[in-house]
Amino acid sequence: MRILRFLRSSVSIGKDVDYYSKFSPSPLSMKQFLDFGSENACERTSFSFLRQELPVRLANIMKEINLLPDNLLKTPSVRLVQSWYVQSFEEILEFKDKNADDEKVTYDFTDAVINIRNRHNDVIPTMAQGVVEYKEAYGTDPVVSQNVQYFLDRFYMSRISIRMLLNQHTLLFGGKVKVNPAHPKQIGSIDPNCRVSEVVRDAYENARTLCDRYYMNSPDLVLEEFNGNFGNPITVVYVPSHLYHMVFELFKNAMRATMELYGDAIEYPAIHAQVALGTEDLTVRVSDRGGGVPLRKIDRLFTYTYSTAPRPSMEASRAAPLAGYGYGLPISRLYARYFQGDLKLYSLEGYGTDAVIYIRALSTESIERLPVYNKSAWKHYKTIHEADDWCVPSKELQMAIKAKSV
Ligand SMILES: Nc1ncnc2c1ncn2[C@@H]1O[C@H](COP(=O)(O)OP(=O)(O)O)[C@@H](O)[C@H]1O
Ligand SMILES: [Mg+2]
Repeated sequence: MRILRFLRSSVSIGKDVDYYSKFSPSPLSMKQFLDFGSENACERTSFSFLRQELPVRLANIMKEINLLPDNLLKTPSVRLVQSWYVQSFEEILEFKDKNADDEKVTYDFTDAVINIRNRHNDVIPTMAQGVVEYKEAYGTDPVVSQNVQYFLDRFYMSRISIRMLLNQHTLLFGGKVKVNPAHPKQIGSIDPNCRVSEVVRDAYENARTLCDRYYMNSPDLVLEEFNGNFGNPITVVYVPSHLYHMVFELFKNAMRATMELYGDAIEYPAIHAQVALGTEDLTVRVSDRGGGVPLRKIDRLFTYTYSTAPRPSMEASRAAPLAGYGYGLPISRLYARYFQGDLKLYSLEGYGTDAVIYIRALSTESIERLPVYNKSAWKHYKTIHEADDWCVPSKELQMAIKAKSV
């Protein structure tokens, strides 16, 4: 009986996932997020939007999880992540036909949203663990690695977007008062006047504390702003926690490179950060003199699990590490891309690295960038990768060059 019931429910959930995955997610602009929160923020409207949009976003990415290699899907960690998605999907569907005018319904919905957010807290380390287990057991093959990288970028982006929706809803409607007591001027998690340099300095100070702990010293910061409005601090409509996440990661990297290169020196070259405002872009550059990275390796730095630091202990009791999971850059780039920005690294090997965050200066241009499950996405996983369309030097030639250079 129980097995039968389980089978039936997993069939029907499969159908629901199929149904919702046929809708494309609806990207929201920063301006829409703001207008929604600042005007007559209405719990009912948010509820009606989310009970459709959340299943759509969940289903779109659940379909993609299913396209991962079987042996990756079978790892306990990936199974666990999948079970969270199924459960959360089901919990939202409970509200499908409920009366949006009933206060009890919207109240219960907000509760469900909080539960879902908490359930998914550990998705990133758990998924990462699954990938590590898979790679340890089955080794790495370039096609699979490319697919996993493609998947993780989309999966984590989807997660960022879903959390943004969940957070806005709970911050606006979860408490008795709409105002977030810690940040009274914010609309949920968005600051309409986010002072960029303040966030940069804050992230620097916290990274510096970690750096001091590991290296007993740290490089200074020289922070400059360009083209602000008549001497006023540069501001942008943005999610300060996202900006903080990005610059914190960049500072940790810049500090580690500097400290490793200068060893026991008494003085270290300062890290320079620049914030510039244009008509289209708000740009933040973090420059270090930590010796840089060769061009050949730059793309690799954005792959998940690539790190040159020793892998830190997974124990929660240990202090936060300065580096080592290899997730700093790829996840930071997703945050930048989420609102149509980007994050790039330019390096001068033998000298240092410039890491640049691009953010849209106009809130009307900051629109969510969301993965959608469709034929092209499907093809990415299924296409057999054919031969390169650029010549590859012959083995003999490569060997001859190597022999000469020794
Ligand atoms: N500013 C930098 N200078 C030199 N190397 C860097 C810099 N930033 C990143 N890297 C290299 O890129 C790797 C990946 O960085 P990241 O994604 O932040 O992961 P982690 O810091 O955990 O290793 C680092 O291990 C390091 O080798
Ligand atoms: Mg890092």
